[in-house]
Amino acid sequence: MTTEKTLILIKPDGVKRRLTGRILQRFEDKGMKVVAAKMLTLSKDQAEKHYSVHKGKPFFAGLVEYICSGPIFAFVFEGKDAISVSRKLCGATDGSKAEPGTIRGDFSAGIEKNIIHASDAQESFDHECPIFFEKNEIHEFVYGDEALIL
Ligand code: CMP
Repeated sequence: MTTEKTLILIKPDGVKRRLTGRILQRFEDKGMKVVAAKMLTLSKDQAEKHYSVHKGKPFFAGLVEYICSGPIFAFVFEGKDAISVSRKLCGATDGSKAEPGTIRGDFSAGIEKNIIHASDAQESFDHECPIFFEKNEIHEFVYGDEALIL
């Protein structure tokens, strides 16, 4: 078993549509541990750094403008294979193609306003997480039911 951490963002459309609680519930139901949480509005610099892998793509400027357009929630979740499990919970990037039962499949019909971001690899998490959290904002603790879930 690999216990991993992953960075999850609930994007401005998710926040403004009051979806934060329902989305968080899905991760908790799956056994993910919330080890860091924050509401913030990203600066252009932070957004460009977070999405630097997409720099040069035609949608980059719009993506940066959109992610800075309102408050977001940032979470670090910890759990078994947290990166791949979280990506499955989110569903395909394009909400119009995402399977029903996934977060994007149930709540999004687009590719830019697709509700949620999840790190796609360990290297991505290592790049993304420090943009949102200091090391001392990421907590270490044990849930009472961990032995039953992991
Ligand atoms: P996210 O998981 O946050 O990672 C990169 C984001 O870029 C992705 O979700 C989409 O919101 C966005 N994206 C990817 N491809 C396109 C595209 N072709 N047009 C607009 N936005 C895109």
